[in-house]
This record gives sequence, structure tokens and C-alpha cells, in this order.
Amino acid sequence: MQVVYRQQLTQEIEELKKEYGSDRSALMPILHAMQERYRFIPDRALQTVAHALDIHPAEVAAVASFYSFFETQEKLGKYVIRLCQTISCDMAAKDNVARQLENELGIRFGETTNDGMFTLRYTNCLGLCDQGPAMLVNERLFAKVTPEKVHRILKDARRDFFIPSNVRRHGPLLDHGIEPVEALRTALDRQPTEIIAAIDTAMLKGRGGAGFPTALKWQLAAEDPDEQKYVVWRASRPLSNGNSRPRIRMSRSTWSVTLMKASRAPSRIAISCRNISRPCWMG
Ligand code: FES
Repeated sequence: MQVVYRQQLTQEIEELKKEYGSDRSALMPILHAMQERYRFIPDRALQTVAHALDIHPAEVAAVASFYSFFETQEKLGKYVIRLCQTISCDMAAKDNVARQLENELGIRFGETTNDGMFTLRYTNCLGLCDQGPAMLVNERLFAKVTPEKVHRILKDARRDFFIPSNVRRHGPLLDHGIEPVEALRTALDRQPTEIIAAIDTAMLKGRGGAGFPTALKWQLAAEDPDEQKYVVWRASRPLSNGNSRPRIRMSRSTWSVTLMKASRAPSRIAISCRNISRPCWMG
């Protein structure tokens, strides 16, 4: 039986490798896919992933245990409710929401209901600090959660009224019809100064950098006398729990990975950089 299980895991991971690649950068998306499939990541899956990606098993176990979104010990419920416990949500009365959840479900945080429907977990910042308390139910975010809202959310979940989010498939980022290599072609036709000027005109700002002007950032990097420059492709928001909307978008679509990879070309050319990282999921 265990042999069959191991063979099945190996086969599944080989399939996932076709989608996410076979180097280290595939580790996070493959772990997410395994967790989605089994509602936790069995020990044997960690070993099989390590073997498949040629990474030391201790390293894979360390990644899986570091992120609170990965569960390696026990099967999670069908709905995993993660309530933000970070300071803004704490000050927005997240304790009232927590109490309501525990009372309605009859379990404490860290536990799963006997019917396997709900798991309660605390998590760190979900990026909705101005709209706390924030809560995540599987991949669906809820803002300004109140005890009354909790009642409705649980009721909808029990009746399977949850509609999966399509954010990873539709929207301007993925559906605007730009060819994956178009940014590269455009960038190759321009001088570094022209690219920076175009970015300046577009007033592009870093969304993960508190609105820092992108053109100024590239200008400063271009002027740096050091010959070795790197563009680090950070594919996740800087959250400590492994949650990442860009990650979700990219891990579900090789098209969007290609698109976003091509989008790095202008920055590389603008700052005369020869090195670009693979997507870095770790914040
Ligand atoms: S502190 Fe709760 S979402 Fe940021």
C-alpha cells in the first residue's frame, strides 16, 4: 500500500514539475499544490518533493515548517479560517471575531471541527491593515469582519455557497493581450536612458516600495559604478506567512510567469544588469 502511495506521489510531483519547473524555485508552488490536494503536506510528500527537486529533505522540511500556511502535521478542514492577529487587526477588535468563531464552531484556534469542515488558525498580516479585522477563508479575503459577519460567512460555507476566486485567471494583468515577449522586444530597441525616461513619463511607482518612483530607483541603480548588478524577482508580497496574491497568479499560469518574466527585461536593460533571479517566493 505504501509503495503505491509513494508511486502516486512521485507521479503527481512529476506532473507538477512540468508546470512549475524542476529547480529550487518550484518548491513553493509544488508545496502549495500538494497542500491543496491533500489539505496538508504529508511527511512522505516532503521527502518525495526533496528527491524530485534535488534539495536536501531538511531544507524542504524547514521551508514547510517556516510558513504558517503550510500544514505538515494534520489534515486541515475543508475551510481553513485564518484570522489576522497582527497589531492593526488586534486593535480593531479581532478578539470579538475570534470569540464568535470559537463559539459558533465549538473549537479553539488551532483545532479542526469533528466533521472536517473548519479549521481555525491565527495568521499574521494579510495586507488589509486599514480594513481590519481581516480574515481569510481558504483563498477568499474578508475585511472589517464583525461577529455578525462571522455568522453569515460560516452559514455560506456550510451551504457551500463559496465561489472560488478567479483573480488568477482574469483581469487586466493577464487578459490585456500583450504578447509575452513584447516588453523584451520594445526594451531591446531602446537605450537605457530612453527606457528610464519612458518609465518616468508613465509615473510608475513601486507598489511594494511605499510608492517609490520606479524611474528614480532604476536611475540610481544604473548610475551605481559596481559592474555586478542583480534584478531580484520577488514574486511574493513581504508577508511572513507565505500568503501571496502574485504567487497565486503566477503559480497557476505559466503564461503569467512568462509575461512577468518578460516584464523584467526593461529594468535589466535600463540598469545594465546581466543577472536576474528566478521568481523568489520568500518575501
Ligand atoms: S494587521 Fe491585520 S491585515 Fe494587516
